[in-house]
Amino acid sequence: MSASLPDFPWDTSAEAEALAGSHPDGIVDLSIGTPVDPVAPVIREALAAASSAPGYPATAGTARLREAAVAALDRRFGITGLTKAAVLPVIGSKELIAWLPTLLGLGPADVVVAPELAYPTYDVGARLAGAQVLLADSLTQLGPQSVTLVYLNSPSNPTGRVLGAEHLRKVVGWSRDRGVVVASDECYLGLGWDAEPLSVLHPSICDGDHTGLLALHSLSKSSSLAGYRAGFVAGDPALVVELLAVRRHARNDGADAGAGCHGGRAGRRRSRKAAARAVRAAAGGPVAGAALSRFCYRLFGSRTLLVGHPR
Ligand SMILES: Cc1ncc(COP(=O)(O)O)c(C=O)c1O
Repeated sequence: MSASLPDFPWDTSAEAEALAGSHPDGIVDLSIGTPVDPVAPVIREALAAASSAPGYPATAGTARLREAAVAALDRRFGITGLTKAAVLPVIGSKELIAWLPTLLGLGPADVVVAPELAYPTYDVGARLAGAQVLLADSLTQLGPQSVTLVYLNSPSNPTGRVLGAEHLRKVVGWSRDRGVVVASDECYLGLGWDAEPLSVLHPSICDGDHTGLLALHSLSKSSSLAGYRAGFVAGDPALVVELLAVRRHARNDGADAGAGCHGGRAGRRRSRKAAARAVRAAAGGPVAGAALSRFCYRLFGSRTLLVGHPR
């Protein structure tokens, strides 16, 4: 598999780094944009207060986390019309970008469009899925080509280019007409300098219709949290639900300890009741005690489901 991928970007710059390092004034190394500002005390305190977390986290994240993301997108970027069902936390946005074409079920017949000079993982993710990659900065470059997924990145890494509203509207309209998914990497959205970057989910861009749109957000740069691997994707609820459905199979999917429906003692009681109902339905009648436990084992491969099993 690795043979189908390009050389790892930072490995390729070793020679240039050595040459620049031999300059009498040394090297100005801009190769890896890793945050250096300290993590804000309010974040560190909140993380420390929540550090006793022995259970598996829910792939969907807690309801509070998703609600906070919805509120932040509205407050910071004027994105309206999202619900928490349209948000999914990810372990840093890079892993989502690397797996997005795979998670969406893309394959050799699919074309992924990425900016010509871009963050390398758009290309890598398409290759991991076995999809084709087309580098283009404008729709006219695509011609009659049939496309499945288009990446945008504004402000761009590495150029800093901020796409204007007209450009974004054009891409959204073009994609909507063709059923193409737009994945807008917005990890630098809050870091505009002399222009106001806009999300594809902003009502002035998508007219309040998030169909086919995914905005990828990261806390790495905006909050100096690269070490914590914290990001999320928001947008078309149908796409987000599909991503969640696949990702749950690839992780230890635990319960939302804050949601109440599976969390806490009351939640566990409800889970037990739901498991017992499933077992009784499968058995076609009432089952009790040890028999219930045996049935549970046969059905789910574990008796521990009765006391709260990581899903
Ligand atoms: C354009 C772009 N997208 C995504 C990422 C990934 O960020 P993270 O995985 O830390 O969320 C980076 C990191 O440098 C980036 O520059």
